[in-house]
Amino acid sequence: MNIISPSILAADFGYLADVVGKAEKAGADYFHVDIMDGSFVPNISFGVPICEAMDKITDVPLDVHLMINNPEKYIEKFKEAGADIITFHQEAYYDINKLVDIIHENGMKAGISIKPHTDISVLEPAFGNADMFLIMTVEPGFGGQKYMDSCTNKIRDLRNALSAKGLDTDIEVDGGITKENIGTVLEAGANVIVMGSSVFKGNIEENVKYFKDVMNK
Ligand code: DX5
Ligand code: ZN
Repeated sequence: MNIISPSILAADFGYLADVVGKAEKAGADYFHVDIMDGSFVPNISFGVPICEAMDKITDVPLDVHLMINNPEKYIEKFKEAGADIITFHQEAYYDINKLVDIIHENGMKAGISIKPHTDISVLEPAFGNADMFLIMTVEPGFGGQKYMDSCTNKIRDLRNALSAKGLDTDIEVDGGITKENIGTVLEAGANVIVMGSSVFKGNIEENVKYFKDVMNK
């Protein structure tokens, strides 16, 4: 199933409930909540309180992307804050299956992300255990960057590697997805599509509807 996960990093926080409500009404399947610590990535976004606010604002599942060091310390906190899916970075934790298990024990789905220069082979030990793999298509840290074309083959290779094992695990893509390249990432095998600027800049309802149409063709 194809899923659209608008990233609230690009939302106007002065009107968070309003803009999230618009995206929800237009058909957002998840909301992507980007947590940055200024250490794993060179930027600080927001933390647990915004996740709690999102939980109050919307019934749509919260897809929490932890771009932080020591992610294991915060699993319960984000669970309490309303997270439904937690994705952590392979580069930030030494035993990916252990952390997937901890997330599952807390009743959430677990995703594992890799940065653009990390090889997909590091994900293989978690095939069949993780619920989702997130291929970053920009260097994590900031919204509004340009999609890195070199990542398209990683999506395709990961989809092929999963299929070869009889798995149809979700592949999420995140960073620089636009009207111009959404077809490329879908064709390569991604099915959970994160979009910040492409949803929240301009007419939110029209943007979500446009992408939903493309994804459901
Ligand atoms: C970047 C974040 C992304 C970001 C995407 O580090 O992980 O989720 O919000 O924003 P756009 O779609 O504007 O590239
Ligand atoms: Zn993200």
